[in-house]
Amino acid sequence: MLFNEFEFDGFSVANRIAMAPMTRSRTSQPGDVPNEMMATYYQQRASAGLIITEGAPISAVARGYSMTPGIYTEQHIAGWKKVTSAIKQQGGKAFIQLWHVGRRSHASIAGEQPVSASALKEPDQVFGPLPEGGFGMIETQTPRALTLEEISATVADFAQAAKNAILAGFDGVEIHAAHGYLIEQFLRRSSNQRNDGYGGSRENRMRLLLEVVDAVIDAIGADKVAIRVSPHVIEGFAEDDTEMRMLMIDVAKALAERRLAYLHFSENISRYNEVDEQFRRDIRAVYPNPIMVAGKLTQERAEQLIEKGYADLVAFGTPFVTNPDLVARFKHQWPLAEFDADARLTLYGGDEVGYIDYPAYQPTYI
Ligand SMILES: Cc1cc2nc3c(=O)[nH]c(=O)nc-3n(C[C@H](O)[C@H](O)[C@H](O)COP(=O)(O)O)c2cc1C
Repeated sequence: MLFNEFEFDGFSVANRIAMAPMTRSRTSQPGDVPNEMMATYYQQRASAGLIITEGAPISAVARGYSMTPGIYTEQHIAGWKKVTSAIKQQGGKAFIQLWHVGRRSHASIAGEQPVSASALKEPDQVFGPLPEGGFGMIETQTPRALTLEEISATVADFAQAAKNAILAGFDGVEIHAAHGYLIEQFLRRSSNQRNDGYGGSRENRMRLLLEVVDAVIDAIGADKVAIRVSPHVIEGFAEDDTEMRMLMIDVAKALAERRLAYLHFSENISRYNEVDEQFRRDIRAVYPNPIMVAGKLTQERAEQLIEKGYADLVAFGTPFVTNPDLVARFKHQWPLAEFDADARLTLYGGDEVGYIDYPAYQPTYI
């Protein structure tokens, strides 16, 4: 199953294995521009049915981690072209992840006070410039609430970023609505205390998500649009929101009629609740279209999710860090290079080491 082609409307992939989005913070400075080294990294991994790039901020204020690649300037578009043409040379496909971090930032990264649904902060840290020089983890700053005009402008920024992505040669975009970033800050009650059309009821709290989806569909077409959510992950929030499960079913219902390329569930990073089978069934009942699942998957677990009908596509993150040829290793049952402590050290920032120096498996035939 994993190695079969998959298609839905105008979206098609050569196999069901996706590379999950992973921030690696290796852009060229100034300007956070994608470069040749990134092109090599993605090219090495292009046998994935779909590469989903690291999160790409859609505007200056959308940035929350230093050295992450933007998708809002001419330079960004030119830089990403190197990446997409390297992937295409290998016959691969790629969606870029469109990212607005909202409050998970600091003025030293975003260039101004971070923005969110409401002026509320939780204890949280992001990767940014240290007061003493160099980069490291810094505490986020209290955000200010977006005005209605600014919400419209943010929706327009997502649409423009999607157009830029197509100009840069991407096959589509994945909207980042997971992991406690801006769109999820609107979804959750603890971070959204607005009393206008974007706060209060579930319908109001999901309004920004749907407006972004619709604007991006208008810009580039539904078969090039996907969205990532993480109702079971408690990242960037102090408390779990027990209503997220119901809200996500409402979201899935609303998305089903929009015929996106896929709906992506990120299931377990940092603090999270286990996903139960009932949730998977409830989502399937309202969402017959393509579903992608990611989070600590093994080949076996991924196959089970597809066989049971809970997923159509499966995404792997850390296994792709150390195994650029993950698809071939799964296919031939070759051993995997372990994601060890050394691999963890070179995740964010730095040079080629731990980035483009993981070799493909060399089988020895006797
Ligand atoms: C270094 C690193 C960076 C990540 N950056 C992103 C990101 O930019 N956007 C996102 O949605 N998820 C991000 N994730 C989460 C991964 O997409 C994935 O969901 C997670 O690693 C779990 O999958 P795995 O167990 O297969 O690694 C990141 C994970 C890692 C390890």
